[in-house]
Amino acid sequence: MYIKEIQLKDFRNYESLSVKFNEKVNLFLGPNAQGKTNLLESLYITSMGKSFRTVKDRDMIRFGTDFFRIKVTAFREEELVVEIAVNREGKKGIKIDGVKAKKLSQLLEHIYMVVFSPEDLRIVKDEPEKRRKFMDRELCQIRPSYYSSLNQYRKTLMQRNAYLKEFQIDETILDIWDSKLSEYGSRIIAQRDAFVKKVNAISQEIHGEITNHKEKLQVVYEPSIRPCENLRDAFYEAMKKNRQSDLKKRTTGRGPHKDDLKLSANGIDIRSFGSQGQQRTAALSLKLSEIKLIQEETGESPILLLDDVLSELDQQRQNYLINSLSDIQTFITTTELSKEVEQCLGNIRSFHIEKGDIIYQEEKM
Ligand SMILES: Nc1ncnc2c1ncn2[C@@H]1O[C@H](COP(=O)(O)OP(=O)(O)OP(=O)(O)O)[C@@H](O)[C@H]1O
Ligand SMILES: [Mg+2]
Repeated sequence: MYIKEIQLKDFRNYESLSVKFNEKVNLFLGPNAQGKTNLLESLYITSMGKSFRTVKDRDMIRFGTDFFRIKVTAFREEELVVEIAVNREGKKGIKIDGVKAKKLSQLLEHIYMVVFSPEDLRIVKDEPEKRRKFMDRELCQIRPSYYSSLNQYRKTLMQRNAYLKEFQIDETILDIWDSKLSEYGSRIIAQRDAFVKKVNAISQEIHGEITNHKEKLQVVYEPSIRPCENLRDAFYEAMKKNRQSDLKKRTTGRGPHKDDLKLSANGIDIRSFGSQGQQRTAALSLKLSEIKLIQEETGESPILLLDDVLSELDQQRQNYLINSLSDIQTFITTTELSKEVEQCLGNIRSFHIEKGDIIYQEEKM
């Protein structure tokens, strides 16, 4: 799968842009604050329906204008056109091959993307929320039903937490929330459990290669409620058991919103005890396992977006990353590319970006 071209209107600092991409490597080059990451962001939205850096869709509308529009032509067995527009009221419209999508979830199974930014390099040492996000992002792409379970869970959790803050609480109403949470939450836990087992196997292999088999990586799911045969009932029981504590703290203390991933190298928990190098190598292994997992689960190669990440990796890790990219379309942003990396990359199209415009492009074979 690859992106053939993109058209932007009033997206971030781009007033209007129309550009065709290379099937292999595309490089966005230019000084700081010119629009390199903005262009990656616009690509990412056509895959996930939202940004990898802002929460508010409206923030991406060019200052002083009323809406943005992104149109992407991709190729996946046949041509595929995805259009997204957002206006100042925050209303989002999505069209797939000219047909309006009713829900964002309809978008997720069309274009697969994996984004890797400096923030992802910190996934190992950052707070658990980042690791939950990692699981969620991937599962949303490979299991569209996961997205709806997650949404329903979040909505119910918010309602339950709001209710727990009320002055008078009727426990029969809490029972209703608990039963709903158990239904959606148990689905999330079961899917995360299966997902992490696969990620563990793949990333362990990759990690072994990067470290010349000196280190063995282990990725273990740390669920708030342990997966079992009758998970939905077990979930409900756990909610019941925790109720007094929830009533006292006025918030929900258990459930997949408390999950984590444990990462260890040679048996040592590298979340707290890893060196920076170990943490980065593990992050790289996790990212590369995402690509492989999408390939295995969907039969399609995802598109990789590398935002300023090459300069953060040492030469050996850069080489490993680049050598793993042979058959997937990659978009790379950087202020400068080292000669070594450029040589390894092979066929590249470079776009020189200045003030929200491509001032020139060149192709190297
Ligand atoms: N909604 C918006 N409307 C207009 N301009 C915007 C909007 N949002 C962000 N910008 C501008 O986009 C620029 C940042 O672009 P971007 O993040 O793509 O930079 P970059 O080229 O990736 O830089 P760096 O090398 O520092 O990462 C900033 O100058 C910012 O003011
Ligand atoms: Mg940037």
